[in-house]
Amino acid sequence: MSFRTHWADNVQESLITQTITIAGWVQRRRDHGGLVFVDVRDRTGLVQVVADPRNPMFKVLDSVRPEFVVSITGTVQQRPEGMGNRDIASGSVEIVPNLVKVLSESKTPPFMPQEAESVDELMRLKYRYLDLRRTSLFHNFELRDRVLFSLRSFFHEQGFLDVETPALARSTPEGARDFLVPSRVQPGQFYALPQSPQIFKQLLMVAGFERYYQIAKVFRDEDLRADRQPEFTQIDVEMSFVDREEILRLMEAMMKQIFWDALDVRLPDFPRMTYKDAMHQYGSDKPDLRAGEALVDLSDLAHQTEWNVLRQATYTVGVRCRQYAPSRKQLDEWTQFAKDLGSRGLVWMTKAEDGIRCSATKWLDSEFQEKISATANLEIGDTLFLVSGDDPRPFEVAGQIRLEFARRENRMESGWRFLWVTEFPLFEWSEEEQRLTSAHHPFTMPMEEDRSLIAVDPTAVRSEAYDVVLNGIELASGSLRIYQSEVQQNIFSALGLSDTEIQEKFGFLLQAFQYGAPPHGGIAFGLDRIVMLMAGAKSLREVIAFPKTARGTDPLMEAPSTVADSQLAELGIQVQGRHPEK
Ligand code: AMO
Repeated sequence: MSFRTHWADNVQESLITQTITIAGWVQRRRDHGGLVFVDVRDRTGLVQVVADPRNPMFKVLDSVRPEFVVSITGTVQQRPEGMGNRDIASGSVEIVPNLVKVLSESKTPPFMPQEAESVDELMRLKYRYLDLRRTSLFHNFELRDRVLFSLRSFFHEQGFLDVETPALARSTPEGARDFLVPSRVQPGQFYALPQSPQIFKQLLMVAGFERYYQIAKVFRDEDLRADRQPEFTQIDVEMSFVDREEILRLMEAMMKQIFWDALDVRLPDFPRMTYKDAMHQYGSDKPDLRAGEALVDLSDLAHQTEWNVLRQATYTVGVRCRQYAPSRKQLDEWTQFAKDLGSRGLVWMTKAEDGIRCSATKWLDSEFQEKISATANLEIGDTLFLVSGDDPRPFEVAGQIRLEFARRENRMESGWRFLWVTEFPLFEWSEEEQRLTSAHHPFTMPMEEDRSLIAVDPTAVRSEAYDVVLNGIELASGSLRIYQSEVQQNIFSALGLSDTEIQEKFGFLLQAFQYGAPPHGGIAFGLDRIVMLMAGAKSLREVIAFPKTARGTDPLMEAPSTVADSQLAELGIQVQGRHPEK
């Protein structure tokens, strides 16, 4: 006899009087008025089983405890008037058992799956298999599966080949630390787990594969946050003989396809913005378009006042808070907020029926206040915050105030606000390392019209790099790539690599480019981030089955762990010092 004929959610009124078999875990058992009720859970939902003392199965049913595994055969009947449960799909019916099989018993679990949300995260991850029994979590994995299915069919239809690239590789320059794997056969030598398949996918273009994709697991040893895990999955893409438009068009079509297939959502075309505009209008390279209108640049006006604070600052930026009348306490809090972000202060201005109130009335006459108000398009009831300073701080601080205002005042619009950000700078100046670094990675093509600046004003050079942003989170990054070895060599030199270093680290790539490299470009999306946003989840841990804690550990397997001395000896490794306490 089979363990199951029906899933819980399919037990509905159409089955009344029929005998069926369900299987799953006991979620709850309760006695009520002499009857015993047991809720059985499977991955689709819950179904109620009920028996009275005359039922031959009463005793067995009464003996089950939470998280026992059961298979129950019985007759479906209507629940009595008023006893229905609208929260579950099978809520209008119940099963009267004629066979109850306990397939597996359970110790009292450290927490009930359905109450896991209030349980300490370490505990949940230690017993992740119990945590994953939560139906809401399971739904995230169903969604992830739908997204993957949709992705694969999209790529297949568009002629992309799924090609796997090695996990034991060499360091690729994506900017994080590597996870290293010692080689036993070559003592003292190490593989690096890939931070991305970047170089391999470019080599596949040199090989003539033309359209590549991979759902690739990648590894980065960096500080963790809610949207960062040390190992995560990329939707990695590369194409040959394409320009930027072609890549953006196809990748936008891909996102639209997965939202349609997995969520039934039709996405509108994605707006585009250059990096410079994003920074000046939103103070961020990943603007959250849900948080209301853009910042307003008031620098020209500010330069006309006598007040040094505004006149001497390169930029004065305004945040428009519509229909907002902050209390004195709130204004103090906003000022503190701006100071904490490194601003020297914050000027505010509120437009009321009887005129403008301003925190800097002493220095800004009313005519000037009116001008600011008109330029910022203020209406009665609006408040404007002004941040002054030198690039890029005032934009960043104003951008943070804009976001925080939307959060605090519940002004965040709902919906999916996608955006392409283009023309990222090619280089960044690293204060820490006192040298130029790549803003994206060193294989990114500089924009043709900016090439002459590489030698004279490198941080002004724009690149052919683009990002996809959704609701203020970076979902993807990509670029057109350099495909001439001289240009690539120049970029490495600009990054401060000596000829020997270039040869040692990237000689194989430069060599490959000498054997006929096609023009190519690509992108990589963070799959976990996409699913997290689609699921409305707050952390990647809700969409990764076995994630790491913020300290990069796995409390279930207890990884990382020490290894036997013999294993270390085989690898020629000696550990210095003590292992830190777990
Ligand atoms: P990048 O480094 O921007 O680009 O990574 C691409 C996307 O991967 C996601 N992502 C992460 N997701 C979870 N946890 C992390 N620690 C994490 N780090 C990044 C983000 C990001 O947009 N080789 C290039 C792509 C290319 O040029 O084709 C690359 O890896 O969503």
